[in-house]
Amino acid sequence: MTNLKNDRFLRACLRQDVDRTPVWMMRQAGRYLPEYRATRGRAGGFLNLCKTPELACEVTLQPIDIIGADAAILFSDILVVPEAMGMELTFGVGEGPRFPQPITCLADVKNLPVPDPEDELGYVMKAIEAIQRGLDGRVPLIGFAGSPWTLATYMIEGGGSKTFSKIKAMAFNEPATIHLLLEKLADSVAAYLNAQIRHGVQAVQIFDTWGGILSTRDYQDFSLQYMQRIISQLIREYRGRRVPVILYTKGGMGWLEAIADTGCDVVGLDWTIDIDIARQRIGHLVALQGNMDPSMLYAKPDRIRDEVCNILERFGHGNGHVFNLGHGIMPDIPVEHAKAFIKAVQEASPRYHDQ
Ligand code: CP3
Repeated sequence: MTNLKNDRFLRACLRQDVDRTPVWMMRQAGRYLPEYRATRGRAGGFLNLCKTPELACEVTLQPIDIIGADAAILFSDILVVPEAMGMELTFGVGEGPRFPQPITCLADVKNLPVPDPEDELGYVMKAIEAIQRGLDGRVPLIGFAGSPWTLATYMIEGGGSKTFSKIKAMAFNEPATIHLLLEKLADSVAAYLNAQIRHGVQAVQIFDTWGGILSTRDYQDFSLQYMQRIISQLIREYRGRRVPVILYTKGGMGWLEAIADTGCDVVGLDWTIDIDIARQRIGHLVALQGNMDPSMLYAKPDRIRDEVCNILERFGHGNGHVFNLGHGIMPDIPVEHAKAFIKAVQEASPRYHDQ
């Protein structure tokens, strides 16, 4: 693989010295960029975009060229894994994802295969190779997958949900069914992430967007346990380089110690915790990623800069911080505000690092 010109992101994930704090944004390739909307138009829809390696590559590179992020994230979606297990998936225009035939019973779960990522998800592997050629070592590439629990919410609810009534009823009434599903998902995700690593991603992030809807004990049983099962199967070093694992549970700030204990290298923070507190709690074990409120990008650039400086000051001097938002960027954010955010981190952070 080409030598990296900017490896700050990987170094920060491993708590090594950097000259400034690296920054990227969850959902950085997305609808707030007019260039993204144009490429999606050419692809004829979101899923086609994910499945056309040259176009997925094009949108992955856009935030590197346009806003100057210090890492690229593979353009895809967490829900391509259940699709590869044979579930029909649709994304209607202006709608969220839909599974028209959701999982309802043990027989449905028994029928789900653990897919071969080189085959059913071969288009993702082709996209990774195209992206690495396009990046040419400018910044590292992050791969990702959804946590088993988060994937299961969509597979059982049939789409997004406000109450999560179906999955919670299944979890509490039919534990054998949900645990079999979560096991299959953990093994599918582990194989998928390992394939991404073999095809060239240099770090991986597990998105547990819905772990935070669980009670403390249920988070351990239904979400954390299965993320740990994934982490224990992952390739941790590839071609002589450590492959950092980032674990992000939205709403999981009460459980930071347990999350850090999974063996991940980086814990992703949402915006509900002060980063100095998170650093005191787990900063000796892992690096931290985050954690500006994504809605702060609605504010004017001066206010965005102030908030970036607040967070840098709270984290304080030293290594182990990857700057990010606490969740994905919203589609109606002005591009100038996203640029101001990235630039503020890059300009204000050197004073927190020894040169
Ligand atoms: O971060 C990136 O730039 C990489 C791409 C990425 C997408 N989805 C592209 C996408 C990543 C990392 C994801 C992860 C994802 N997908 C998650 C976990 C992270 C999170 O945000 O909590 C979840 C829960 C999904 C499932 C999903 N995909 C939903 C709920 C939606 C609809 C959301 C919405 O805002 O409408 C999607 C669609 C989706 N995934 C879009 C993009 C750019 C928008 C689709 C479009 O272009 O119309």
